Amino acid sequence: MSNLTLSPQVFSILSGLVEERVGLSYSASEREIFESKACARAADAGFESMLDYYYYLRYDDPEQREFTALVEALLVHETFFFRELEPLQVAISTFIAPAVREGRRPRIWCAACSTGEEPLTVAMLLKEHDLLGRVELVASDLSDDVLARARLGTYSVRALRHHQDHPLAARHLTLRAQQLVAPDELLRAIDFRRVNLVDEAQVAALGSFDLIVCRNVLIYFRDDRARQVVAALHGALRPSGWLLVGVSESLMRFGTQLVCEEHKKVFVYRKRGQA
Ligand SMILES: C[S@@+](CC[C@H](N)C(=O)[O-])C[C@H]1O[C@@H](n2cnc3c(N)ncnc32)[C@H](O)[C@@H]1O
Repeated sequence: MSNLTLSPQVFSILSGLVEERVGLSYSASEREIFESKACARAADAGFESMLDYYYYLRYDDPEQREFTALVEALLVHETFFFRELEPLQVAISTFIAPAVREGRRPRIWCAACSTGEEPLTVAMLLKEHDLLGRVELVASDLSDDVLARARLGTYSVRALRHHQDHPLAARHLTLRAQQLVAPDELLRAIDFRRVNLVDEAQVAALGSFDLIVCRNVLIYFRDDRARQVVAALHGALRPSGWLLVGVSESLMRFGTQLVCEEHKKVFVYRKRGQA
């Protein structure tokens, strides 16, 4: 426990700095959770005032090292294998597989992939369709910590949540010393990279994709920031490409240029134009 406290004024400028750089947004009702994490982080770093901490982060922090540590403390990395599986299955079977049959090498990007369960689920589906190696799979997150864990491909059994008996788990994951281990073949098929979704240049540098999976992250952003990120994702889609967001997320209120379509009872957002 730290003795530091966060006044409403310093909450406003400090959370504003976080929002500006990485998009995470905190309303007044979320002040307590922000305060407990930010104050603990500032105390660990040896600060005696949150205003000093703010000034340090804004003006002094070499290579934003302390800012990165603060963001690591704030991020929520909740994810698990086979989460919201159906949209992924539909995207692979009705969109990606036909593209490969037409002789193309589609590109898929799992943005905000956390510890890797989501891109590994995609890799399993590609393997099931005999598409692994015929599709490029990029997975990214803001957090270097989760990316390091994703590259290891070793998980506690909790990473399956309520899908412990899923046939894909039995076929693709090995239980070794109480740990679930993803096979090298799947891990090698994934190109893990650090990408900050609110940095339009970093998104643009990835090139263009047939399918972007960006799920359960826009909920942490304000509407105007989410709109900006969705516009950048639109720019990173090939004509006719698909964007999948989380099942509880809708882009309709942002007035996106993407078209919402239903495929096999799954909602997807498609970029206009011919592939
Ligand atoms: C709740 S997890 C969702 C993981 C996965 N997509 C899923 O649906 O299971 C949200 C992830 O978004 C990442 N994230 C938050 N802000 C981000 C940003 N500005 N750029 C990239 N990733 C970000 C977090 O680090 C976290 O791993």
